[in-house]
Amino acid sequence: MEKRIDDIIGIPRRLHNCRLSNFKEHNESSKESLKLAKEAANNRSSVLLLFARKPEGGILYSGTGTGKTHLGLGILFDILEHKYIDRNGVLIPEYCRFITADGYARDFHDAGYNRDELRRRLLIAFDDGSGQVKTIMLDRLGEEDKTGIQCIKELIYKLHDDEVQMIITSGLSEKELRIRYGHQIWRRLSDDVIVISMYGKSYKQRS
Ligand SMILES: Nc1ncnc2c1ncn2[C@@H]1O[C@H](COP(=O)(O)OP(=O)(O)OP(=O)(O)O)[C@@H](O)[C@H]1O
Ligand SMILES: [Mg+2]
Repeated sequence: MEKRIDDIIGIPRRLHNCRLSNFKEHNESSKESLKLAKEAANNRSSVLLLFARKPEGGILYSGTGTGKTHLGLGILFDILEHKYIDRNGVLIPEYCRFITADGYARDFHDAGYNRDELRRRLLIAFDDGSGQVKTIMLDRLGEEDKTGIQCIKELIYKLHDDEVQMIITSGLSEKELRIRYGHQIWRRLSDDVIVISMYGKSYKQRS
C-alpha cells in the first residue's frame, strides 16, 4: 500500500486533516491567528504559535485545545502543497519533518544521547551541509521533561544556524519560554519569526 504523505513526515493520524481551510474563526483570537498563519504560509516565514495567558473575566484558561497544532499543521500542509513539489508535480516529503519536543527528547534519550544516530533517524542532515530538512514543525515545545531541555536547546541552535524554517507550537507563554530556555534561545526563537499568541477556551469547549 502506498504510504500517505502525512505518515512519511511523521504526523499522527488524528491530526491528518488539520488545514488552514477548515480552521474556524470562532472568536477574535482565532480570526487574528488565522490571518497571521496565512501570512506566514505565503511568506514562508518561521512561526511561533503560543498560548497567551490572558485572564478573561477573571478566568485563566489552560492553553490546551486552542488550536495551535491545528494551525501550525495548516501552515505546514500549505507549504508542502505549494513548495515541495518537483518538476513532475511529485511531492518531496524529505524536506519536511513533524516532531514533538517530548518525542524528540525521548528518542534522544533512548538513542543513548547519540546525536549522529538521532540525526540519521530524523533525516536531519545537520552536519554534512546538505541541509536536507528545510522545514520542521516542532510541536509541544516545553512538554519535554527537565532532562530533555538541553537537547531541545541544541536542536533549536542547529535549526536556527541552518536556516531551517521552523513552525513551533507551545503551551507556554513568552515569559515562560524565556525562563525555561534562556535569552539566547528566545532570541533565536523570535528572530525573523511571526509570533501568533492565541487565547480563549479550548475549541471543543467553546460556547
Ligand atoms: N479554530 C478551529 N477550527 C477548527 N478546529 C479546531 C480549531 N481549533 C482547534 N480545533 C480542533 O480542536 C482540537 C484541538 O486543537 P489542537 O490540538 O490544535 O489544540 P492545541 O492548542 O494544539 O492544544 P494542546 O495545547 O493540547 O496541544 C483538534 O482536533 C483541532 O482540529
Ligand atoms: Mg497541540
